[in-house]
Amino acid sequence: MSPFAHITGWGMAVPERILTNYEISQIVDTTDEWIQKNTGIRERRVASEDQSTATLAVDAAMKALELAGLSPEQLDLIIVSTSSPEYIFPATACIVQDHIGATKAGAFDLLAACSGFIYALNMASQAIRAGSVQNALVIGSETLSRIVNWKDRATCILFGDGAGAFVLQASDTPGGILAGIMRSDGSGGDLLALPGGGSKHPATLETVELGLHFVKMNGHEVFRFATRVMSQATKDVAAAAGFQISDINLVIPHQANRRIIEAAMRGLDMPMERCMVNLERYGNTSTASIPIATVEAVETGRIKPGDKLVFVGFGAGLTWGSLAVQWSGPILPKRKMYPASYHAWVRVRSLLLRIVRRVEATLWGNDINNNK
Ligand code: COA
Repeated sequence: MSPFAHITGWGMAVPERILTNYEISQIVDTTDEWIQKNTGIRERRVASEDQSTATLAVDAAMKALELAGLSPEQLDLIIVSTSSPEYIFPATACIVQDHIGATKAGAFDLLAACSGFIYALNMASQAIRAGSVQNALVIGSETLSRIVNWKDRATCILFGDGAGAFVLQASDTPGGILAGIMRSDGSGGDLLALPGGGSKHPATLETVELGLHFVKMNGHEVFRFATRVMSQATKDVAAAAGFQISDINLVIPHQANRRIIEAAMRGLDMPMERCMVNLERYGNTSTASIPIATVEAVETGRIKPGDKLVFVGFGAGLTWGSLAVQWSGPILPKRKMYPASYHAWVRVRSLLLRIVRRVEATLWGNDINNNK
């Protein structure tokens, strides 16, 4: 029998800096009232200069590992889902791998925009169910404040920074991630895009002048698409997992806009009490929004072992997807990890590896910095 993929650890990290609607109204022509009425958002977090997608990811990951009672060396796989990666390459997942000292893990980034965490969880759970991976770390992390145009009131009001992480582990006990749906429609790619900096429009003075390195969005069309797909994707995944809609204890949707979430819940004929919403405090953190909402739902007692959950999201691509989950909780005894001292040792190890590589390159005359 193939093993089940259980969510055994979870963690979140958000920057300390809170940016309120009122502060945004000092930058662009908008008001707190308009933003709250049209989106439900009150405030969002913004990364400080020394924070980035990787540092937020590492902080969330360490919390998830600690809860799961797992050490980083026990990980086989790390997937970082992000639309605001540290670099185009190397993958942010490899930076996380190095920072946490996951010496036996494969690591890669996955880009499916705001649906990314659902896609990544589905991929990791499939690897566990196929028997090729025992322990996986899935992270959604974003610093969208670095890629939004702070002069564009249609987009800058929406997004925020943050990260959330899940540890997935194989177990023969039934439960965990039971079904997943992934969908896409590239014909709507231009509705939400970051056009510059890729191979189509490599960075030049002109692309910067045209602002092509900022998020562009047709909000109205994205809104229409989102309200169309959210309830259907929830119904489809519930059917695939054998859940009745009335069985679902909590829906955890992508936190983009309260009106989109309310429309989805109406489409499901479910009351808002059975839906997790925390976008008023974080805005849309893209692929981090579902794990952040899940962590807060667990911490406030809204999720208990045995509960039936649906994660559902949509985003650029266009992409959308959903997962049906029977919540389990940690399967190992909680283990104290002392992240600070652990980090110190991992940093030393990483530095030693870099020094050895540099010495070898100098000895064999192929130092990349020699330009030979
Ligand atoms: N403050 C004040 N007025 C604003 C504004 C702002 N921040 N943004 C837009 N407006 C104005 C527009 O200029 C327009 O004015 P006009 O009627 O004088 O031309 C009016 O509000 C309506 O604009 P519209 O774009 O039609 O508003 P909307 O009701 O569609 O709401 C969004 C805009 C962005 C809130 C909404 O479209 C949305 O949430 N879309 C989905 C976006 C999303 O979730 N993206 C992420 C996907 S993962």
